[in-house]
Amino acid sequence: MAPTTRSLQRAQRVRVATPARQCRFSTASDVAVPRPSPGHKFFPYESLYQSVLDKKKKDESYRYFRSIARLQEQFPYARCSLTGKKVDVWCSNDYLAMGSNPAVISAMEDALHTYGANSGGSRNIAGHSPLAEKLEESIAELHKKPAGLYFSSGFAANEAALIALGTQLPGCIIFSDELNHASMIDGIRHAKAKRHIWKHNDLSHLEALLASYPREVPKIIAFESVYSMCGTIAPIAKICDLAEESGAITFMDEAHAIGLYGPRGAGVAEHMDFAAHQPGQYTGRTTMDRVDVISGSVSKGLGTMGGYITGSEAMIDMIRSVARGFIFTTTQSPAIMAGANAAIQYQLHNDSGRIALQRNVATVKRKMARADLPVLPNRSHLVPLMIGDAEITRRVTDILYDEYNIYVQAINSPTVAMSMERVRISPTGAHGPAQQDVLVGALVEIWTRLGLRKASDWQRAGVWDAADADTTQLWTDNKLGLTPVPSVAGHLAYPLHDMPVKARLEDTLL
Ligand SMILES: Cc1ncc(COP(=O)(O)O)c(C=O)c1O
Repeated sequence: MAPTTRSLQRAQRVRVATPARQCRFSTASDVAVPRPSPGHKFFPYESLYQSVLDKKKKDESYRYFRSIARLQEQFPYARCSLTGKKVDVWCSNDYLAMGSNPAVISAMEDALHTYGANSGGSRNIAGHSPLAEKLEESIAELHKKPAGLYFSSGFAANEAALIALGTQLPGCIIFSDELNHASMIDGIRHAKAKRHIWKHNDLSHLEALLASYPREVPKIIAFESVYSMCGTIAPIAKICDLAEESGAITFMDEAHAIGLYGPRGAGVAEHMDFAAHQPGQYTGRTTMDRVDVISGSVSKGLGTMGGYITGSEAMIDMIRSVARGFIFTTTQSPAIMAGANAAIQYQLHNDSGRIALQRNVATVKRKMARADLPVLPNRSHLVPLMIGDAEITRRVTDILYDEYNIYVQAINSPTVAMSMERVRISPTGAHGPAQQDVLVGALVEIWTRLGLRKASDWQRAGVWDAADADTTQLWTDNKLGLTPVPSVAGHLAYPLHDMPVKARLEDTLL
């Protein structure tokens, strides 16, 4: 059972019970297929495309993109391509500003000028290089595993590896958390192995499903460490216990945790044994050691592009040899691989970025809790604000953008179930107190203007209860050096408020 308590599970069940739980892309069977006009011999392709789009617009699952250009030297700001105004970006997955990190940029520049823009082909044809080898050594070093394999994206890594495992392990059964990312879902589906979906973070459900198979049958338990749309954290050690008891292997996606958790930035599994991973303390057999396959993305906390898996030598070599999503695609550009390697090495040796980020997360969550804003309770760096209606979610993000110069993306179906729409806020280390106050003030004003449900309303409706709001962050105040001190007004203040603001809103906004 995840630390996020029973009522959060209830929240997820509400999600499951939602009529539009069909979190999937529309297919031809969902739309009225247009009839060819009389005398017309061909299928009306364009009319079908339009019908699909019309349906998506009608049910509010159509996706609107904003054109913004991120400003390398003014992270986290971006410029609106339409109006030229600067906006404060609160929804980027470049959590640690590694996309603007000088070590990363200089490694990319060097590789670009030395090796050119292209890798020459797939690894099997012409794309293997010392850059790929170095990067894979760093991936293995980060997770303390024997070997690593780099893919062109995190999506490709999950999909290709799960297909390979699911097809190579004879009679394999795959157990997948119901909130797993689309890349794992697709990998599991395409493996064509028998599969079971277990209720999000529900260990009893997983245990019961596992119990119906003999120990010797090959099994994979697939899950994420941090679930990116609700911020929940998996009970990793307990899942490993169940895997060991039932003869399963574990496949865990750390995509949103790499760089952000653990003393060396290896993710949540490393964070769980924080002291054991401090320099000179490692003795082996930690939670991270117990996970058989760790997958990750280099495109989020590591600020570049690509994804990977890491685990035993033989497993990695097998996947390298059979995974179609690895074999039949061009290797990433040398510059990207050099940047990815520099980002891992930087995070292994610098914890200041994750600490700055997690301090801002802690204060943003406190400010939002004081304002009764409906943050779905969790222990991670993610701040999902529940709205529950696609059209209103878009209105909220439009007002933030048009009136407050704040960019957050509306999250709608199929990323989350219909009626569970939300805005997903991801503070960075550069979002100091002034920016936090502007964001929270804007949200409070918009919540009042539109009469939206507050946290207490969701709690009254039984979606989650007040106790969840106190859920302790994985990065505790203690770890962050955030000791509360009494302020003059008698309220608790946090020393962070007195820290210099890196980029004050009034200095950077036009
Ligand atoms: C949990 C999870 N895994 C994998 C991916 C895919 O990673 P990438 O963006 O590198 O393809 C994502 C992307 O958002 C994700 O959220």
